[in-house]
Amino acid sequence: MRITLLDTLAPDPNAPTVHDVIAELGDVTTHPLGAERFGPCEGCFECWVAHPGTCKAKDDANRIMRDWASADEVVWRVTPFLGGWSSAAKRALDKCIGLILPFFTTVDGETHHKARYARLPRLGVVAEVDAEVPDVERARFAHLVGRNALNLGAPHPWVAWVRRGAPVAEVRAAVAAARAAPDPGFPAQPPFVEPVSCGVPAGPTPRRVLLVVGSAKTGEQSTSSALGHAVLARLQARGWATAELDLPRVVKLGRPDMSELQEAVANADLVVLAFPVYFDSLPALVTAAFERLRPRFGGPALLPVVQCGFPELAHTVVALELCAAAAARLGFAWAGHLALGGAGPLRDAPLHEARGVAWRQVQALDRAAAELDAGGPVTGATGDLFSTPMMPAGFYRLAGDLGWLAGAFQHGALTALLARPFEPGTESPPG
Ligand SMILES: Cc1cc2nc3c(=O)[nH]c(=O)nc-3n(C[C@H](O)[C@H](O)[C@H](O)COP(=O)(O)O)c2cc1C
Repeated sequence: MRITLLDTLAPDPNAPTVHDVIAELGDVTTHPLGAERFGPCEGCFECWVAHPGTCKAKDDANRIMRDWASADEVVWRVTPFLGGWSSAAKRALDKCIGLILPFFTTVDGETHHKARYARLPRLGVVAEVDAEVPDVERARFAHLVGRNALNLGAPHPWVAWVRRGAPVAEVRAAVAAARAAPDPGFPAQPPFVEPVSCGVPAGPTPRRVLLVVGSAKTGEQSTSSALGHAVLARLQARGWATAELDLPRVVKLGRPDMSELQEAVANADLVVLAFPVYFDSLPALVTAAFERLRPRFGGPALLPVVQCGFPELAHTVVALELCAAAAARLGFAWAGHLALGGAGPLRDAPLHEARGVAWRQVQALDRAAAELDAGGPVTGATGDLFSTPMMPAGFYRLAGDLGWLAGAFQHGALTALLARPFEPGTESPPG
């Protein structure tokens, strides 16, 4: 059996390693992800429509996709963060959407992507931790891995929890038990349960709002940025002082310094965090920001504004849960949330007046600003209005599929759309 081991953790010379246990299962190709280079995924989708199956970046993304596509099983070694992927893992995972096709399919009524490769390796994770992990985080992580596996077409995912430095027999037993456990099946997504919301803490005026954009999109304006600025403009019109930061500029994935973000957050009453869903959860940049921000008593309020490509709202839930967990850890108040599935049409929608397909979203943005200005959280009713689908899911999927064809045509890549550049036996493209 061929195994690709994606190792996000530093080698530990004193402990019997997970590597030994995984090596007992088959021939292992290891990627020490800490030593490899990754820029954040820019969400350009060129790996779907311009050079299908390969990433344009000159980092290690293509090597990972090559070894993923030729494996029977892909195993991660990772320390989960708040029940989600760590940024060390996410920066690599986010670069791997070239492994699937852009085209939509449905699984139990939910939208997902079609597989690019015929071979669909199993997905496993050795979650190595040195502190007790709350049950809620363990459950969230298992659920997230299940949903990732669903999107990647990976059968029978597993997660083994092991103590750092545990004896090899313990690691072996945990991995064997996780791999032999019954297939958890379709990981249905229950709705997001909002934490107790308290709005924006009282303080001197003008109130200060910081927009943090968590998309690394370049070239065209990101949907996250458009939505975040729509909130910002409304609060500014109500007399709020505004500031904004783009995470790709202030968070470097390989470097820990984040003083600019830390300072900007310390000077805000409200942080509007606008970001896309990547692989069922937070993008690497947002994860890195949450990992590295220092907790503070009496921090600002957090308003996540999250949107995603699939039409169902369910795809935003894990990301929202991770935001809520991060807010609790960092001492942020919770100011409600705005979440939307099927956000594609927002790219061309006017967000200053309630017309066109996004009229409900515009109304909700107006209401959200009024609620925040009154000191309260964004209410569930406003959140529900914002989440109202802009069009039926079937129509969205059809329009999306046609959009990918048009995009590939524009890039002269129509005939290569279904390419399998890393199929074993194929000469790999450079990179
Ligand atoms: C690497 C990557 C992973 C993605 N994963 C998901 C996903 O799991 N579920 C989903 O609904 N959309 C997913 N999307 C789609 C984005 O959420 C969607 O395109 C979003 O509108 C992009 O926002 P932006 O323009 O602010 O970057 C993914 C996009 C990329 C680039």
